[in-house]
Amino acid sequence: MGELWPFFELVVATPRVQLRYPSDADLQVLAEVAASGIHDPDEMPFSVPWSRLEPPALERNILQFAWRCRAELTPRSWQMPLVVVEDGVIVGCQDLFATDFPTTRVVETGSWLARSTQGRGIGKEMRAAVLHLAFEHLGAREAHSASFADNPASAAVSAANGYEPNGTVVADREGVPVRQDRWRLTREHYEPGRRDDIHVRGIDRCLTLLGVDHA
Ligand SMILES: CC(C)(COP(=O)(O)OP(=O)(O)OC[C@H]1O[C@@H](n2cnc3c(N)ncnc32)[C@H](O)[C@@H]1OP(=O)(O)O)[C@@H](O)C(=O)NCCC(=O)NCCS
Repeated sequence: MGELWPFFELVVATPRVQLRYPSDADLQVLAEVAASGIHDPDEMPFSVPWSRLEPPALERNILQFAWRCRAELTPRSWQMPLVVVEDGVIVGCQDLFATDFPTTRVVETGSWLARSTQGRGIGKEMRAAVLHLAFEHLGAREAHSASFADNPASAAVSAANGYEPNGTVVADREGVPVRQDRWRLTREHYEPGRRDDIHVRGIDRCLTLLGVDHA
């Protein structure tokens, strides 16, 4: 399958985690990890409250979302939910997406980890990994992210990776207005923190499909 859909060969490896483009078998595990719990019931870190679904709808939602991302990928609009692997075990998802990337060269990210894995620095590491992919291999100019005002862990992950505040908006979260903070990392601010211990495999044949015409 990697011949036709080269994303299946894509791996980003750091000393602590691996991000990889998921096979269907990986998605099944990822769905089970999501069902194990991501946040307290009185919290909602996501704009679309998919994590409220009950099993097996929750697991099916994970599968359908990832399949939709595969099916709808074009150079002008793409989204790659990458599985996060620690010591050979899938523990969460690091998403990378862009609209009009050939023109803007701006990427966005989203992420989640199983609750049992949170608070050990994996969130910061997986963001560093996906930023390495974006800036070093896709030629990104900027990376954007957003976090609700009541999600300090997500904000801290952005701050630790060099992002700067990029304004706020009021968003509808489950029918309630909530402040959402936007974050931006420019290439200028990324480069001083560039790491030489992150390695990417299998990206070359994906580049054209992502609207990147140079390595
Ligand atoms: C957000 C998330 C991916 C971060 O991953 P993580 O592995 O838990 O985060 P890390 O251990 O790398 O720590 C990130 C930082 O958050 C800080 N942090 C964690 N919880 C915090 C809290 N309640 N208040 C303040 N800071 C907090 C940590 O101290 C650390 O900061 P540091 O860089 O100053 O040490 C993870 O917590 C998660 O999946 N949360 C639920 C889903 C979610 O919120 N997704 C993001 C949607 S925008």
